[in-house]
Amino acid sequence: MDRLDEKAERLKNLMAERRGEKGFLIPLLQEAQKIYGYLPRPVMEAVAEGNGVPVAEVYGVVTFYAQFRLEPAGENLVRCCMGTACHVRGALKVLRALEKKLEVTAGATSGDGRFTLETVNCIGACGLAPVLTVNDKVFGGLAPETAAEILDQYE
Ligand code: FES
Repeated sequence: MDRLDEKAERLKNLMAERRGEKGFLIPLLQEAQKIYGYLPRPVMEAVAEGNGVPVAEVYGVVTFYAQFRLEPAGENLVRCCMGTACHVRGALKVLRALEKKLEVTAGATSGDGRFTLETVNCIGACGLAPVLTVNDKVFGGLAPETAAEILDQYE
């Protein structure tokens, strides 16, 4: 079985497990995104078809929630926290510095495919605010310049 078939099989099994569950759509899409890394149209169609809901409904959910991606992420996922604690400690300036460094706006992937920049609302490390994560690593107590320099480690 090749990797595509394997992914499709995992998605099919997940749908079978969750069929009929109340409020299944968001958790199912989260799992589908874990499998594929993002939610391409054929995956949204499979989820819609497998659960008897219109594709438009699935698409509506995917585009409403910032956690879902319609495009593949870059090699490194940068998340800038914009939660209250980080916001009051200068998160917006940190975000602007990251956007400038990567030449993208939040939600996009850099032209070289190395970084995807996203915003999140609190990662539970408020004591370190302002905070960002690169992949699973947390960086806190940031100034805009230091935040941008952190990305150099991943070049
Ligand atoms: S608000 Fe940023 S970690 Fe909690």
